[in-house]
Amino acid sequence: MKERERFASRLGFILISAGCAIGLGNVWRFPYITGQYGGAAFVVIYLVFLVILGLPIMVMEFSVGRASQQSAARSFHVLEPKGTKWHLYSYGAMLGNYLLMAFYTTVGGWMLAYFVKMLSGEFTGMTPEQVGNVFNDMLTQPLYMAFWMVITVLICFGVCSRGLRNGVEKVNKVMMLALFCLLVVLAIRSITLEGAGAGLEFYLKPDFSKLFEAEGGLMESVFAAMGQSFFTLSLGIGAMAIFGSYIGKDRSLTGESVNILVLDTFVAFTSGLIIFPAAAAFGVDAGEGPGLVFVTLPNIFNQMAGGRIWGAMFFVFMAAAAFSTIIAVFENIISFAMDLWGWTRKKAVLVNLVVIFLISIPAVVGFSVNIPHIGTIQDLEDFIVSNNLLPLGSMVYLLFCTSRYGWGWKNFRKEANTGQGLQFPAWARVYVSYILPLIVLFVFVMGYIQKFSA
Ligand code: ALA
Repeated sequence: MKERERFASRLGFILISAGCAIGLGNVWRFPYITGQYGGAAFVVIYLVFLVILGLPIMVMEFSVGRASQQSAARSFHVLEPKGTKWHLYSYGAMLGNYLLMAFYTTVGGWMLAYFVKMLSGEFTGMTPEQVGNVFNDMLTQPLYMAFWMVITVLICFGVCSRGLRNGVEKVNKVMMLALFCLLVVLAIRSITLEGAGAGLEFYLKPDFSKLFEAEGGLMESVFAAMGQSFFTLSLGIGAMAIFGSYIGKDRSLTGESVNILVLDTFVAFTSGLIIFPAAAAFGVDAGEGPGLVFVTLPNIFNQMAGGRIWGAMFFVFMAAAAFSTIIAVFENIISFAMDLWGWTRKKAVLVNLVVIFLISIPAVVGFSVNIPHIGTIQDLEDFIVSNNLLPLGSMVYLLFCTSRYGWGWKNFRKEANTGQGLQFPAWARVYVSYILPLIVLFVFVMGYIQKFSA
């Protein structure tokens, strides 16, 4: 068998896995969902879910990947007890990766479009209202959005076609480090804007009564927090598991997962520190929805010396964050075809290029559609992925790693704890086997009931 590709360094692994986690979920979705569900109190629930649900499941995905040395396409085949059918989930994982990309590439394209708009000075001198109109106009132009979606897809497949070390690892490493620095600079600028205080309070001072104010009440807010915590870590569809298959055994997987979680949370939290103070300062409604980042940020740059350049840099790094996720998910999609059907990397890239273009179209043309309780086509795809496929897929990984009819607790824990670093504690067995699945199930069922009965 051909030797599996490896990451060149530990930093490469951490940054690329963090790159898969960190993306639009942090800089675009986290602020707007937080804005819609009432600010700081939502953030508290989200953070709790990250630790009690996200972290253990991330360790499980990495363990399955590392033990099997396979992507989700084949990992269950390798680890499952003879005669069982866990491997059927490889198709569920595949579906999740494709559907995530079906709307993600469009938003990635928006970032590129905004990079060019900033660079060309389109926003210079505009009022906050005019800035808002630019975004709304964009949504009425499917061809324009399709153009940037296509560019996004081409760039990301271009990187993947160069292979793991040369392409994916090298490019992501540089982009992630640059993004961290720029976020900090912008957060400082935003916090020091006149009128930023109300935004900071909204974001940082929990008012739990706000959770009840969402259309579907408390359980819808909690459902949304759970969805966001799975989304931000890309859990449940094997998107992370694959990176476990590219690393050695010298580090424990719990330790590595904590690193990734911390980086991911840092970026989301800092994005909030940029968006909410600025939204308050410029009178933008924090509950604005998916456009929040786009209707808020250009205003900050309008007020900064050299704002055009800062703005262009910002959107290019936002695009980079999106690309690091897209590249990671494409890497999965490509390896599905390579692992399942023995395709070459080149063939997998070319065929998937076409497939991704096609499945991205409904989101691009669907912004005038209004589905009751959901919204646009993009919202629908996002809902199916974030609130359904990711939590339910995570349950598959969880059951696989804890049940004796699956890979089982002992095998999982041995793999997770191989190497130096934080160990997955033995006492966690009862929690992950019985309590964690009940939490997910409860939030899922109640969230559904409230969302659709509201
Ligand atoms: N985890 C990815 C993100 O946050 C999907 O964008």
